[in-house]
Amino acid sequence: MTTLLDRIGSLVTNDPSYGDGSPLGRLTDAALVVDAGGSVVWAGESRNAPAADAYVDVSGRCVIPGFVDSHAHLVFAGDRSAEFAARMSGQPYEAGGIRTTVRHTRAATDEALEANLVRLLAEMRRQGTTTVEVKSGYGLTARDESRALALAARHCDETTYLGAHIVPAEYEDDPAGYVDLVSGPMLEACRTYARWIDVFCETGAFDRDASRAVLDAGVRSGLGARVHANQLGHGPGVQLACEAGAASADHCTFLDDADVAALAGSQTVATLLPGVEFSTRSPYPDARRLLAAGATVALASDCNPGSCFTSSMPFCIALAVREMGMTPDEALWSATAGGAAALRRTDVGRLTPGARADLVVLDAPSHVHLAYRPGVPLVADVWKSGHRPS
Ligand code: NIG
Ligand code: FE
Repeated sequence: MTTLLDRIGSLVTNDPSYGDGSPLGRLTDAALVVDAGGSVVWAGESRNAPAADAYVDVSGRCVIPGFVDSHAHLVFAGDRSAEFAARMSGQPYEAGGIRTTVRHTRAATDEALEANLVRLLAEMRRQGTTTVEVKSGYGLTARDESRALALAARHCDETTYLGAHIVPAEYEDDPAGYVDLVSGPMLEACRTYARWIDVFCETGAFDRDASRAVLDAGVRSGLGARVHANQLGHGPGVQLACEAGAASADHCTFLDDADVAALAGSQTVATLLPGVEFSTRSPYPDARRLLAAGATVALASDCNPGSCFTSSMPFCIALAVREMGMTPDEALWSATAGGAAALRRTDVGRLTPGARADLVVLDAPSHVHLAYRPGVPLVADVWKSGHRPS
């Protein structure tokens, strides 16, 4: 059983061997064939399209790969809107707010945590996100971190162990003891549910040595590394991520020339999270500097109850274009193929044969409208693994 999506006004494949040779590999008057197994089997100009078992008329609209949101914290309970309101009247963002969510999360039932996770994943899907990475990090005990990851693993294939999010209150006087817990028994309880390990390397969270110890323990257990790096000020996070061979260094707000050079010379993707700067009223990272140096840049939401409670990749694209100097083409690439690179995935973030048929039909003639029409719900249809949810 194959389905032909025909009369696509603008098709973004993210494969430069298609179309005009630009990184987006964009075709006009295009068609796409997907099979029952959930893969793309053909992409090209409409006039060359092969016959298929079923036909869908896209009516001249734009089709893009589903967004790959490579950074989100979705297993939590509680509301921090009062903290947001206080920030908007001049209070600074402080990493310590994480402990508020930890208290609520520990007190929540499995059912409540799962219901919130499912609600947020559905909210993301409606906005075009078809792959999501979900972190733990609001449990901070072996039991609470492993239950967060077990819940996440039921609903997504990209799960990240973030026991090293912050030192919890009960370890305030023994941060080294907490690092031992995170790298030992907590890791042991979590590793079967996680693909990745992450650490918040920042003043007030984990310093360079503690972060390295946590990452090394995770990598020894078979997890891939990622790092929350250089978010609130300049620090060792980006260098550490590159040295440890992390798939991604996330935030990258405060970088010096050596950090930019390290990212450009490594396989570590610079993942920018402009919703955080929006929601904390902070300076945005310099995307142009990273791109000019040759670094791979991803965009992600960082959806979490504290620093940024948006689940919208179109909003992040609009911010990246307006506030970080990215072109609409670069921003779309970073929110799709860039996110896939940050998760070391080659099966998502593109629409060419062999890729998963995860795609978005936009109520717009081109992807440029994602930034040109900020805040407008342009996502008309979302296909996941070749299926259009009814
Ligand atoms: O990515 N940086 C650390 N963690 C989250 C914020 C979590 C929170 O404030 O609850 C982030 O911004
Ligand atoms: Fe984060």
